[in-house]
Amino acid sequence: MTESPTVAPVGPELLRVEGLVKKFPGVVALGGVSFDLHAGEVHVLLGENGAGKSTLIKCLAGVYQPDGGQVVVDGRRVSITTSARAEALGIATIHQEFNLVPQLSIAENVLLGRQPRKLGLVDKRRMYAEARVAMAWVGLDLDPRTPVAGLGVARQQLVEIAKALSLDARVLILDEPTAALTDAEVDRLLELMDELRAHGVGLIFISHHLDEIRRIGDRVTVLRDGNSVGTVPASTSTDELVRMMVGRSIEQQYPRERGDAGDELLRVEHLTSHGRFDDISLSVRAGEVVGIAGLVGAGRTEVLRAIFGADAYDAGSVAVRGKTLPRHDVQAAIGAGLGLVPEDRKAQGLVLGASVGENLGLVALGRATKRGIVNRRWLWQLAADTVDDLSIRTPNTQVLVKNLSGGNQQKVVMGKWLSADPAVLLLDEPTRGVDVGARVEIYQLVNKLTSSGRGVLMVSSDLPEVLGMCDRILVMAQGRIVGELTHQEATQDAVMALVVKDVEPTRVN
Ligand SMILES: Nc1ncnc2c1ncn2[C@@H]1O[C@H](COP(=O)(O)OP(=O)(O)OP(=O)(O)O)[C@@H](O)[C@H]1O
Ligand SMILES: [Mg+2]
Repeated sequence: MTESPTVAPVGPELLRVEGLVKKFPGVVALGGVSFDLHAGEVHVLLGENGAGKSTLIKCLAGVYQPDGGQVVVDGRRVSITTSARAEALGIATIHQEFNLVPQLSIAENVLLGRQPRKLGLVDKRRMYAEARVAMAWVGLDLDPRTPVAGLGVARQQLVEIAKALSLDARVLILDEPTAALTDAEVDRLLELMDELRAHGVGLIFISHHLDEIRRIGDRVTVLRDGNSVGTVPASTSTDELVRMMVGRSIEQQYPRERGDAGDELLRVEHLTSHGRFDDISLSVRAGEVVGIAGLVGAGRTEVLRAIFGADAYDAGSVAVRGKTLPRHDVQAAIGAGLGLVPEDRKAQGLVLGASVGENLGLVALGRATKRGIVNRRWLWQLAADTVDDLSIRTPNTQVLVKNLSGGNQQKVVMGKWLSADPAVLLLDEPTRGVDVGARVEIYQLVNKLTSSGRGVLMVSSDLPEVLGMCDRILVMAQGRIVGELTHQEATQDAVMALVVKDVEPTRVN
């Protein structure tokens, strides 16, 4: 244990955790974690996927009861038995998984359980007015009556943040709030956090992005395998932080191994879906990683979904190895050798109530079935191998996916498609929420795919990732491809110049 070369915290102590323990069947999620939060401080929790970050904050939010240790708020030992108790203590939490009610409007979600009332009835006018204030803070420029169900991941995240802010908390906990946001939205959120800090709020911030941590953080407590390794200033070097996190240093962040491109595997021609994207043509060859860069809302996810047959389109064609696919037919796409790792893993990528093994075997089921008989042994072995290959942190393959940490769920989605052995894998934000070590593992899998003659088409908002891993980069803006760059030509500036060229200034910021 390295004890802190500490930076002096600014204000008085708001909250302290001492030797916190939380166990689940087969897992010690927290083995004795300690840290303290002061007023006017952004305290970062950093650690690999499954290190215990979300579990720790769930203990502070009244979701889980710890099995040992103590929580001290304002110098008094407390037990936070419910989320209402947490709120009463001034602790508001934005969880990694959304807690929104899809059927309700934005305003109803923001003020859930706290709607202003008049004569016993919800005072809708005041509710919309109050919601508008919270929405303005996060820059959510929509009608507060809009149902949450239709919003994309990024906007749902903003609703979550607005909800927590409207609680007026003294301690604000944010569990990977930036994972689904665009750069401009991240900037806005970090500014907001800065304002709150200036007002004496204490913030606990979880992120896998070291640049964000450095921009906004004051101190960092590193967790490893459920233990606090130490608390250090946020200015600590990347190498040192990574070493504390994973117990070793990482040689190369983007270990792309490029080879020669082979035969064309995927060809998309003039693909058009009115109002969503227009005249998209692209190809992916064996051994290639093709990236699609652009702002959220540029239509990238929609294009991937149409190629995969998950959505219909109006015109154009998709062919795999020269064979044209029927429109809107996922089974045909899978049969032809396509796989899609979707952006919204919870809604589209996983069966949360099923086990890790079952999820991993889902797409490979066809390959495991001969004359109507499923070879279960082969499937479980495949699942066990995938867990090893991807270092998925789980006691065994029988564990339900919903009990895995966020980043490990992402690896299961990835693993599911790898075990199906696709010719072309479509990846939508493949490393969102994935820790620095696991990212490199995912990149190595991408290398493995391409070196064995497969192709990858990848949408990512993480520009360094696109630049580091893709061989060719297509830039999309407002539903159209506005440019193509080879990896030699592609720089952050070159991509951004294409992205903003066509976009009205109001859309950029
Ligand atoms: N409800 C649960 N039941 C069983 N195991 C759980 C449960 N919740 C968490 N775990 C396990 O506890 C460990 C810590 O998980 P946690 O979600 O706290 O990790 P994390 O640090 O937030 O990771 P990530 O960066 O992936 O979000 C993991 O091994 C996870 O599988
Ligand atoms: Mg987590």
